[in-house]
Amino acid sequence: MRPLLKDNYHRVLDYLRISVTDRCNFRCIYCLPPEGIPLSPKQDILTLEEIARVARVFLAMGGSKIRLTGGEPLMRKNIVGLVAELSRLPGLQTLGLTTNGYHLKKLAKPLREAGLEQVNVSLDSLAPSRFAKLTHCDQFERIWEAIEISLLAGLQVKINVVALKGITQEEVLGFANLAKHLPLEVRFIEFMPLCGTGWHPEWMIPLREIRRWIAQAYALEELPRGAQVAQSFSLKAGRGRIGFIASMSEPFCENCSRLRLTANGTLRPCLFSEEAVDLK
Ligand code: 5AD
Ligand code: SF4
Repeated sequence: MRPLLKDNYHRVLDYLRISVTDRCNFRCIYCLPPEGIPLSPKQDILTLEEIARVARVFLAMGGSKIRLTGGEPLMRKNIVGLVAELSRLPGLQTLGLTTNGYHLKKLAKPLREAGLEQVNVSLDSLAPSRFAKLTHCDQFERIWEAIEISLLAGLQVKINVVALKGITQEEVLGFANLAKHLPLEVRFIEFMPLCGTGWHPEWMIPLREIRRWIAQAYALEELPRGAQVAQSFSLKAGRGRIGFIASMSEPFCENCSRLRLTANGTLRPCLFSEEAVDLK
């Protein structure tokens, strides 16, 4: 039996989110200002070897789940090589990656072959013009194709939708319809004050409202939650699922099992705290 890594609140920490780059080619309105944010100098960014080393230590200490994030993780050179290396590490149970999908069309298959199991694609609108306004990327079709190719490549796919007032209400049934027809999970995420673009409480919609709108149109069946951050539902007579991550209105801090490694090597236990340890 491997040891369990625990924090001072007796929470088991078995999930590490690794940011492999702080760069991103999108400018989602809730995340980055159009001019971007100051980036770490290149020499401060962890090398792929250093990332793999932290992952190996984390798994040896009882961790079991790893997710690669950014910025945009697919902008990191040789991300496929990193996935191949991580997927061979003893103790790893699941390996996922969260992406804006821009480079996923060509990388889905190589990533799957390298051992990636899950991909979460951010997609806040199904309307190309609105998608362009939200992300500053006018290639909705390209992202959509990447999602289809990921499913064909055998990746488990989740679509991340940040719930935004005045926008998501018009899209909810379109997203629910996707979960009905495709074997993927659509996850609505409550807007959080994390952003490089300032806090806009007026943008927030509590997810219970979205749940209510969907439940009026579809019969939902709640799935066992375990230690998952998302409360997930299957759709009766549907192929996929719908999940809700209500970090603000229904916080799940007591069940949190996550650690975060920033691109420049800082370990951060919590998104909502400044606490951090520089591993270098
Ligand atoms: N609030 C909620 N979700 C956010 N994301 C990025 N910024 C925020 C925010 N302020 C989402 C992205 C991506 C996931 C990693 O987090 O859309 O899907
Ligand atoms: Fe880039 Fe993701 Fe931020 Fe959008 S939410 S700007 S895709 S890092």
